[in-house]
Amino acid sequence: MKTLIVNCLLLLALVSSCRAADSIWNLCNKNSNISAGSQISKNIDSLLATLVSKTPSQGFITTTFSSYNTKDTVYGLAQCRGDISKTDCSTCIQDAAKKIREVCPNQSDSRILYDFCFLRYSQEKFIGKLDTSSGLIYYNVANVTETDPKTFDNELGALFDKIRPEAVLPKSQGLGKGKKKLTPFVTLNGLVQCTRDLSALDCAQCFATAVQSFMTACHNKKGCRVLYSSCYVRYEFYPFYFPLDSTRTGPSVGTISSVRLSP
Ligand SMILES: *[C@@H]1O[C@H](CO)[C@@H](O)[C@H](O)[C@H]1NC(C)=O
Ligand SMILES: *[C@@H]1O[C@H](CO)[C@@H](O)[C@H](O)[C@H]1NC(C)=O
Ligand SMILES: *[C@@H]1O[C@H](CO)[C@@H](O)[C@H](O)[C@H]1NC(C)=O
Repeated sequence: MKTLIVNCLLLLALVSSCRAADSIWNLCNKNSNISAGSQISKNIDSLLATLVSKTPSQGFITTTFSSYNTKDTVYGLAQCRGDISKTDCSTCIQDAAKKIREVCPNQSDSRILYDFCFLRYSQEKFIGKLDTSSGLIYYNVANVTETDPKTFDNELGALFDKIRPEAVLPKSQGLGKGKKKLTPFVTLNGLVQCTRDLSALDCAQCFATAVQSFMTACHNKKGCRVLYSSCYVRYEFYPFYFPLDSTRTGPSVGTISSVRLSP
């Protein structure tokens, strides 16, 4: 409960409401329309039940569900961010499973991302495949004023050069995080996360693609999140990953904007 409250305080600066369970990105593939009550739709419900019950213990699962007709097979993946508790993971996956059926009731290829977890299913066997075909960027519209843009680019580059290799190590389960002092008063916090079905090579490739977007859409911005189905990367001027650094003072976040990334 305590972690939830702390997180809400941080989120408060980002979004006006303090609901822990707001999805930050979802995608319903309009080329995967299905009808309500179809066998595929029922299989999705069964798949979701498995994802909800089995994800929290390891923070990650891939599974398939198939009825007598194998062309109705659905593949699923669910993953919690590597630094969050089992309890928060469980809550997040439950919310995700419920919400995705509300936002994509008529599609068999659907994805939903929260700060704490990601859930995806499809009739296509997407497990283990790198996917940066579409995504979303959130950025803080405020410019960095603490340093000049060149210094900021260098510091940001150095931070991500440090945490990306950590994330692709097998023991890291796709998660890398770290911080770097920008000035005596400002610390840059960074996090990268791949889905755990990816090879180290594909994970690294995904990060490279995402970090490139920092340099364009988020250039010299006070915070940025680049979100894909296979990975996401994020930096902020305030602590946002666990364990939270409570010695830091609160965030001073302003307006957040977003940009869609399409093929
Ligand atoms: C799928 O359904 C949506 C409306 O729910 C429609 O806009 C879209 O064109 C459909 N896609 C295909 C490929 O039929
Ligand atoms: C899904 O399909 C049903 C029945 O075809 C329709 O009533 C409903 O509006 C659709 N929902 C969305 C979000 O497209
Ligand atoms: C940030 O800097 C850019 C480029 O110098 C400028 O166009 C933009 O208006 C600035 N944004 C804010 C919120 O000050």
